[in-house]
Amino acid sequence: MIKPLFWEDNRLFIVDQTLLPLEYKQIEIKNHLDMADAVKRLAIRGAPAIGIAAAAGLVVGLKSFINSGSTIFLEKLDEITAILNSTRPTAVNLSWALKRMKSVAKSMKHKPVPDIWDRLYQEALTIHQEDIAMCQAIARHGQNLIPEKANILTHCNTGGLATGGLGTALGIIITAYQNGKDIHVYVDETRPLLQGARLTAWELTEEKVPYTLISDNMAAYVMSTQNIDAVIVGADRIAANGDTANKIGTYGLAVLADFHNVPFYIAAPSSTIDPGIQSGQQITIEERDGNEVRNLFGTQISPMNSKAISPAFDVTPNKLIAGIITEKGRFGTPYNFL
Ligand code: MRU
Repeated sequence: MIKPLFWEDNRLFIVDQTLLPLEYKQIEIKNHLDMADAVKRLAIRGAPAIGIAAAAGLVVGLKSFINSGSTIFLEKLDEITAILNSTRPTAVNLSWALKRMKSVAKSMKHKPVPDIWDRLYQEALTIHQEDIAMCQAIARHGQNLIPEKANILTHCNTGGLATGGLGTALGIIITAYQNGKDIHVYVDETRPLLQGARLTAWELTEEKVPYTLISDNMAAYVMSTQNIDAVIVGADRIAANGDTANKIGTYGLAVLADFHNVPFYIAAPSSTIDPGIQSGQQITIEERDGNEVRNLFGTQISPMNSKAISPAFDVTPNKLIAGIITEKGRFGTPYNFL
């Protein structure tokens, strides 16, 4: 299983996912600005992974202030947290992890700064470890959704690259295959940035799980001809009523699944649930540069002045969702996540 982020001799590294699967490159993250840049350009991505990354980025960013007084250290904590928080607005895991780090630091504000920093380092590792455990529990709870022989459609990348552990939706699918089920996965390419074609296809190849890559516009055809048993995807933010933001294109898949009577499931750790918002209408959708749509791998594919939008996510209304699987089990309407 691939690790999107790891520590080696107290140094922090990520794998640059923008280059996969053509090139496997590790980058050292030396401070919070390196991490902010990596998160913004999707070198590290996926909701759980960016929560883990933000916590780790804060730790490396604060390292230079370990010998400062506590007033300066705590001011820098606020400053760096704000920088990391502003990188991507939709996945709640990012602000969830930073809030958790901040409250640990504030609870120790009268302690020596090196102790606060050590405790933050431990907290970042704990956030990572907890995500590994949540992925395992999600994979376990998801098993009874998958028949002995199943064709499953998925979108974007929700595997080891997107989390600290074995993944969410993809973790369920890969575990089902490893448990001996006869699984075939239909992988949506996931335009504009191709997380499905580049990352999910790569992970499934590594795990030897049989799959077929499709372009996004084939999903209706595939659902009407290939006996799809389930659609399983991840999430970036889940509102209290179950409305779910996930990679752009997810909502369309849920509508198609409803039309074809295919159950549509979400898999996510509880760090992706935002109990503070009642419905999906309150979720901020990240708007990225239109060049991501005008171009493909840096090559222009449309007239230069074409108007293009690049919303990174959409919201699937709860009524299209057959179940949300978290580490605590399977939830359905009315959602009572707590
Ligand atoms: O823009 P990305 O690649 O960060 O979007 C990722 C997704 O939408 C995933 O489905 C979601 O974060 C869940 S990852 C377990």
